[in-house]
Amino acid sequence: MLIKICMGSACYFLGASKIAKRLQELIDETSLTDSIDFRASFCMGPCSEGVVVEVDGQRYYRLSPENVEEFFQREVLNRIENRNGK
Ligand code: FES
Repeated sequence: MLIKICMGSACYFLGASKIAKRLQELIDETSLTDSIDFRASFCMGPCSEGVVVEVDGQRYYRLSPENVEEFFQREVLNRIENRNGK
């Protein structure tokens, strides 16, 4: 799974670095470091809808430090579980 987080200036201003740090922690805590390629990206375009995150090419908007855990559960863990047929 490839996860990209926008680190362009608008998203950065909206807390992208905090979100990136928390996502990295969540990836580490769930022992998914081998399954997830987590990268930072330059501006993805829709700056007014940041923070923008992409999971396997699908975009998610308005990520915030408050909703990042729920996002991780819903879009990352559930997706991996479905993929593994659980
Ligand atoms: S800065 Fe994130 S979409 Fe432009």
